[in-house]
Amino acid sequence: MSAPVQETTEQAAQRQKPQSPRRAVRIGICGLGTVGSGTVNVLARNAEQIAARCGRAVEIVQIGARRDNPACDTSALNVTREIFDVAANPEVDILVELVGGTTVARELVLAAIANGKHIVTANKALIAEHGNELFAAATEMGVTIAYEAAVAGGIPIIKSLREGLVGNRIQWLAGIINGTGNYILTEMRDKGRSFAEALAQAQQLGYAEADPTFDVEGIDAAHKLVIMASLAFGIPLAFDKVYTEGISGISSEDIRYADELGYRIKHLGIARRTEQGVELRVHPTLIPQRRLIANVNGVMNAVLVNGDAVGPTLYYGAGAGAEATASAVIADIVDVARTLEAFPDQRVPAAGVAPGNQNGASVLPMDEVVTSYYLRISAQDKPGVMSQVAKICSDQGISIEALIQHEPAEGKALVPVVILTSRAKEARLREAVAQIETLDTVEGEVVRIRVEPLG
Ligand code: HSE
Repeated sequence: MSAPVQETTEQAAQRQKPQSPRRAVRIGICGLGTVGSGTVNVLARNAEQIAARCGRAVEIVQIGARRDNPACDTSALNVTREIFDVAANPEVDILVELVGGTTVARELVLAAIANGKHIVTANKALIAEHGNELFAAATEMGVTIAYEAAVAGGIPIIKSLREGLVGNRIQWLAGIINGTGNYILTEMRDKGRSFAEALAQAQQLGYAEADPTFDVEGIDAAHKLVIMASLAFGIPLAFDKVYTEGISGISSEDIRYADELGYRIKHLGIARRTEQGVELRVHPTLIPQRRLIANVNGVMNAVLVNGDAVGPTLYYGAGAGAEATASAVIADIVDVARTLEAFPDQRVPAAGVAPGNQNGASVLPMDEVVTSYYLRISAQDKPGVMSQVAKICSDQGISIEALIQHEPAEGKALVPVVILTSRAKEARLREAVAQIETLDTVEGEVVRIRVEPLG
């Protein structure tokens, strides 16, 4: 063993000398809507604490905003309508992209990267659809892209996946990652509202995206899911491969039957690692009422992540809103600021996988996915219907695990028959449903909702 090296007096003095404060990190914010205004407000309110934690002050040197009336005080700030000026401003270290959309936002971010700026963004569509290209550009320029605010608002799920769970092989994750959808399903269940009424209410409260089909048809959730899956499984972003089904077909009747069976209907984004490939799917799902995540209601988000070492972990919080999202934007600004002078390879990698690496990118086709199913069949109240349905299922290797059939309502010829099936491949189940729909005794389409035990 070598002898300990003796510290010289000069070295000790150097060590004890108070460090001179590091210069402020200079940010440029593009977009002053809900999240932009929230970010300006929280940065001002908590400036001292943020500077202490960051080891340097955070200074807003320029704001690019194309519209008036922000919900924050900009009187002392340098505001321009030309957002591309922010990307070119030599004073800016970090460009905070909060303009939304994918066209201008992509050009803005690429311009800023080309000018050597780090990026913080809350834009899930941008990362999900163009992330592979943007990460490659950032790597080339030795800058980073931080996007905590893109997924589940204020919940630090990106940091958890990338850092907190880094020692795990993540097996699956499942999340309620669209607050609007969760609000609608909760209102339908708790207040008996129709889908349309609950959606109108969510829009009034400002939860829904500009185009609410992004929320109710699962596109917003699909954006967030691919970002999490990329980090969890170390695969490239594959937005075009996500199976996406919305909640517009869910009825109050199904919510009641699910309750009767001991389940809740939630709109989930699910990513699972299998031998054959990665499952990437967004759809309404029956989950057992006893699971914590089944009790996440209203506009709240939650993500359940199952790692081989840690087991199941649950992250819960506000998935949208000005200050909740600002919380994540500022966490990213602080993270980037802390490593501003570091070499690129000393930073936590931004992407789930090195640009250009396609390993593990194979996504399992939906036909191969195995789940259980809730089926609701409108059948005539005649002898033999149940045995016909049971035979079709059994011919496809599917067994019936639970069944509800109440007496028909007075004067009604049709009765709803509700079935929970065993686990089966999607293709088998689809074939069984197609055959059930051709029976003379069955009317209309069979309602089908996937079931996940999440345990
Ligand atoms: N419309 C989104 C939601 C906002 O309802 O969750 C945050 O992405």
